[in-house]
Amino acid sequence: MAGNRTFTMIKPDAFEAGNSGAILKMIEEAGFKIVAMKATRLTPELAGKFYEVHKERPFYADLCKYMSSGPIIAAILEKNNAVEDFRTLIGATNPANAAEGTIRKIFAKSIEANAVHGSDSDENAAIEGNFYFSQLERVI
Ligand code: CMP
Repeated sequence: MAGNRTFTMIKPDAFEAGNSGAILKMIEEAGFKIVAMKATRLTPELAGKFYEVHKERPFYADLCKYMSSGPIIAAILEKNNAVEDFRTLIGATNPANAAEGTIRKIFAKSIEANAVHGSDSDENAAIEGNFYFSQLERVI
């Protein structure tokens, strides 16, 4: 059975452009409840840890640099079938391939600066949420 939580980050490009509010509005209007949220900034080391699964990929070093280049918003979201429905809402990783009306189609600048992150499985949603939020910060 699909889980009911996913994890997202509004990435430095979208935060810097002042699109956080518009993105959070789309997320809420799509039926997701924000159950934990914070604005923060990753160090290159923490970005490397978060994206460790990609460490052999050619884009890893640039990704760590980019993800630590400015503030982000991290949030845990709740909805039935959360992981799959959120990936539909955000669209393809590469905004050039993202469907019309998706968050990445509207806000992403490139395949790297693609506005938002969304977990790819229930297991990773839990790992990623735990990366950012302590038990005390997950009171809802
Ligand atoms: P995200 O969904 O957060 O997961 C991994 C991130 O790596 C991805 O979004 C992009 O920001 C980045 N990424 C994925 N593929 C590429 C690529 N081919 N070139 C550059 N960055 C990429």
